[in-house]
Amino acid sequence: MAYMDVMPEILQGTNVQEFIPEPVDDETLERILEAARLAPSAKNRQPWRFIVIKKESLREKLKDHCYSDDRITDAGVVIICCTTNVDYKMPNGQLSYPMDIAMAASHLMFQARHEGLGAAILTTYQEPEIRAMLSVPYSMRVVAIVLAGKTEDKRKPYNRLERKRIISFDHW
Ligand SMILES: Cc1cc2nc3c(=O)[nH]c(=O)nc-3n(C[C@H](O)[C@H](O)[C@H](O)COP(=O)(O)O)c2cc1C
Repeated sequence: MAYMDVMPEILQGTNVQEFIPEPVDDETLERILEAARLAPSAKNRQPWRFIVIKKESLREKLKDHCYSDDRITDAGVVIICCTTNVDYKMPNGQLSYPMDIAMAASHLMFQARHEGLGAAILTTYQEPEIRAMLSVPYSMRVVAIVLAGKTEDKRKPYNRLERKRIISFDHW
């Protein structure tokens, strides 16, 4: 399939490894957050809560709990994606929150790319420490961290399974 047929936001879809330390303006941030607010969720429960980390001192502290990942202090936007509910199951018997938060995170990343920024999702962090640091209530969890910002990270070649390996029609 020709790459040209795919949305640019997907083609720019590399998980950014290095950000240029520059702020992102508030209007852009608003649009990124709005995209997440509009994401779909199971039974429309919208279990997400987003904590935007702006303060430099907090960024430094957060970085300590993210294995010193420089992206935490360099990215223009740092969004902690939390869930309010960890028990709700979908009609298929599976937990909804990982999918719900993934949907929202995906919207954040798409909008960031649409704004001409790079985006990344991280799960390499110490959750108990971050929960304590941000006073995340006991029953809630930190599911992912999404970063967005200016980058010069060049699109590396896609390392993805071939279509024939992952797509079939009418049977497994
Ligand atoms: C659920 C999930 C968790 C991820 N966690 C991390 C992470 O902790 N650190 C990181 O650098 N990338 C993380 N990634 C990014 C993936 O490693 C990346 O998307 C994948 O290797 C493909 O690379 P590409 O998106 O740059 O093409 C995560 C992606 C997903 C969807």
